[in-house]
This record gives sequence, C-alpha cells and structure tokens, in this order.
Amino acid sequence: MTTNPGFADVLIGLQYGDEGKAKVIDQLAGKYDVIARFNGGANAGHTIDTAAGRIVLQQLPSGVFYPQTKLYIGSGCALNIWKLDTELREAAALAPSLDGRLFIHSRCAVVQPAHILIDQLSGAYIGTTGNGIGPCYADRAQRMRNARRVNLQLRDVLRDPEQAMRDMRANADNDLALFPEEAERIRRDTLRMLDELPERLARIRPFVIDDPLFLTTLVEQGAKVLFEGAQSVMLDVVLGEQPFVTASHTVPGNAYVGGDLAPRYHRKTIGVAKAVMSRVGQGPFPSELGGERSAAYCAAAAETRRGRADEAREFDAARLLRSSEHHDIGIALRMLTDEYGSGTGRPRRIGMLDLAQLTAAIRLHGVDALFMTKCDCLALYADSVFAGFPVALAHPEHDTLLTHVFPPFELDRQRPLSAAMLPPSLLAFKRFIEDETGVALFGFGIGPKRDDNVRFFDWS
Ligand code: IMP
Repeated sequence: MTTNPGFADVLIGLQYGDEGKAKVIDQLAGKYDVIARFNGGANAGHTIDTAAGRIVLQQLPSGVFYPQTKLYIGSGCALNIWKLDTELREAAALAPSLDGRLFIHSRCAVVQPAHILIDQLSGAYIGTTGNGIGPCYADRAQRMRNARRVNLQLRDVLRDPEQAMRDMRANADNDLALFPEEAERIRRDTLRMLDELPERLARIRPFVIDDPLFLTTLVEQGAKVLFEGAQSVMLDVVLGEQPFVTASHTVPGNAYVGGDLAPRYHRKTIGVAKAVMSRVGQGPFPSELGGERSAAYCAAAAETRRGRADEAREFDAARLLRSSEHHDIGIALRMLTDEYGSGTGRPRRIGMLDLAQLTAAIRLHGVDALFMTKCDCLALYADSVFAGFPVALAHPEHDTLLTHVFPPFELDRQRPLSAAMLPPSLLAFKRFIEDETGVALFGFGIGPKRDDNVRFFDWS
C-alpha cells in the first residue's frame, strides 16, 4: 500500500429520485478519478444536456464526459445487458471513448427477460419502472427455485452463454406460467431477447473485470472515488415506505457493499435535494401539491400513458398556476419545469420542498454538505396563490406539515452567476435551510444548462 491512499465520497439523492444528481456529478467529476455505481440498474434515468445533445444515462455512471475519469459498475448493480449495449452505442456518439475506462464487476446480477416481463405484468400497483429490477434482486436473494438457478451473475453468463440462455428460457417458462393469457407474447419477447444476447454480450465482455480488489487497488494507489447513488434514500427497500420503494438499498452505507470498497476509505457524504420536489410511482408524498387528487391523477396518467405532449395540448400552464387549487398548481409546475420521467415519460407528482423530511434524512445518513437543484423554479410560484415560494415544515404539535412562504424573486439572467448576485429571498432561503438541517449548502442549481449553477464553496 502507498502511504497516500485515496478516498471515496458518496453522493446520494435525499428525496424520491430525480433530484438532478447527474448534473451535480457532472460539475464534480473532474475532481475524481473514478465515478462508481453501487445499486440499481436501468431503473435510474440521469439526463445530461451537452453541447452535442442530450443523453439519458441509465446504467453508465455520470462521468462519461470526462475522458480521464474511470467509470465503475459495482457488484451491487442489476445489469441489463441489452440496455447497456444500447446505452454504450448512444454514448459512443456523444461522449469520449469508454475503451479502457469502463469497468463492470463480474458479479453483477443479470436482469433476465423473465424479470422484465414479470415486472411489466405485475409492477403497476407500486408503479415500478418496468425494468425487472425487483424480480432480479428477488432472484438474487432466492438463488434457486425447484433445482433451477434463478440468479445468474454476469460471470455465469460470460462463462457459458449457452447454458445461461437455457436457464433464462426455463426461468421465463416457469415463472410466467402465472400469466397464461400473455403466453404467446412472453414467448416471443423472451426468444427475441435471447436471440440478440450473444451479439450484445460480446460488445460488453471487454469491459467486465473479474478482480474483486479492482477498486481497492486503485484507492490504495491514491484514486479518489465518487459513488453515485441511484433512486435516493426515500425509496430505500427497507427504510422507504414499503411496498412503494425500489428493490435495493439506496442509502450511502450501501456504497461500501454494492460498490466493492471497504468503508475505511469513506470521506464525505454529499446530499442532493430538489427545491420543487417530485415523485414518480405510488406511495406517500406528504408535501404533494394537490395531495391524493394529484397522486390519483398521476397514477391514472401513467396507466393510460398520458405524458408531456398530452398535458401540453390540454392545459394552459399559466392559467393553472393562478388557480386556487394546489392540484392545478402542481400540474402547472410540472409543465413549466418539465417534470416527466426520463426513462418512462410518466408525469411526476409535484410537491413543496419538505424540510421536515429533508432534515431527518440528513441526520440519519450523516450528510456533510448539500446541493439544492432547481432553485430557479421557485420563482414560478410568484404567480400562484402562494405569492412567493413555499417550503413545508414539521408542525410543532401535530403530525402534519406547516407552510412557510418566502418572498417572490426574479433571478438575474447573467451566467455564471455569483452568490453575491442572488436575490435576498433566495439567500434567506439558503440560511433557513442551513439553520433547519444543520449542514452547509455548497451550491444551488438555477437552470438546466451546465453552467446554470451557483457555488457557495468549493468541494474538493
Ligand atoms: P423499480 O425501481 O423500477 O422497481 O420501481 C420502484 C419505485 O421506485 C417506483 O415508484 C419507481 O417509480 C421508483 N424509481 C425507480 N427508479 C427511480 C429513479 O431513478 N427515479 C425516481 N424514481 C425511481
């Protein structure tokens, strides 16, 4: 070991996902040698806008645009070979080459056709993304059923692709017998995916590593690692509200299980929260604008596949924003801030920033510094009945939320924008959050572009 080992920081979302983690990582990536994923899979959807175009990363870590940065997919991830191959092709068109800088742990659990089909046929109640993540992790835990191997690690598939395909086929036949009316489609989809598998696998094979000490060795030699959490802490499989959660541990501690590194190298935990909150799928969302009405509306929209284009055709966002109904304000904010699932296109449920929830998450997960995204969007509330922008706080006596309203503001259009140029109302908001949560804010996101950020201190 060298005398100067490196370290790892963990960046996680503190709400229900989609906080803009990828954009924060994109700002920080240049300071790290490795960006690593430790949980989830193609259920994540990280959108990055670049000069060359927009890319939605699902399985690749967010450092793809930094040619010096290594990208690591840890053993805790659920790997969709088909989608990763497609993503590699898209990245090849927009990003520096991944040759020699993408590394995938050979023990990732492989998402099988049966997992995807089961999830799509039965995940609607939870509102899953339909990527087979839950069934894949369930099979990882169960390992075998009726003397059949139901979990296949990436190394099993690489070692004997023919056998793996036989196993995947048998798993589809057995596990999908519960859906007889879908039998024909299931058979067709499974065969199509298995047909494509050898070719897609061949393109992924060069990136797979069989060295359990890969990341450890790099850190021993001084590498700085940034673990990139997927799905966020409120969707943790145990600590989120079952069953409306994802199937993996999303909390920072899990970076040191699914990310293949010892916790002795942990340095800091960075939290990302969004100033106008959102949630996709079902489940509790205490500060949701429009409450149950909004939840029911978004669930129905997801079911009937109504999305961005339908809402744009049917609603006048400026008018809805001035409505006295919080439900309408939620729709208007969704439209004006473009809150639709990046993988699924579903309308996201919209809510006020919940400081009670955020403060608890920060304490529980030991967050050291906070980045708040989409602060520019708070200006939109000025035209609503709030006549300023609201945050939700814990009621001192009851189990409900109180609303605290900050004065309206207008943001200077100049970029880059320094902290000194922020309107007093946003600076008061910053101080308020820091007082409530006890952690320092190191930046605000103030727009979708790469330099639409205000930094309060440097993170290195
Ligand atoms: P699954 O992860 O596809 O099983 O979906 C379980 C729940 O987590 C659903 O409510 C999904 O909408 C939600 N979810 C999964 N991935 C993400 C994400 O990247 N952002 C936001 N929500 C997600």
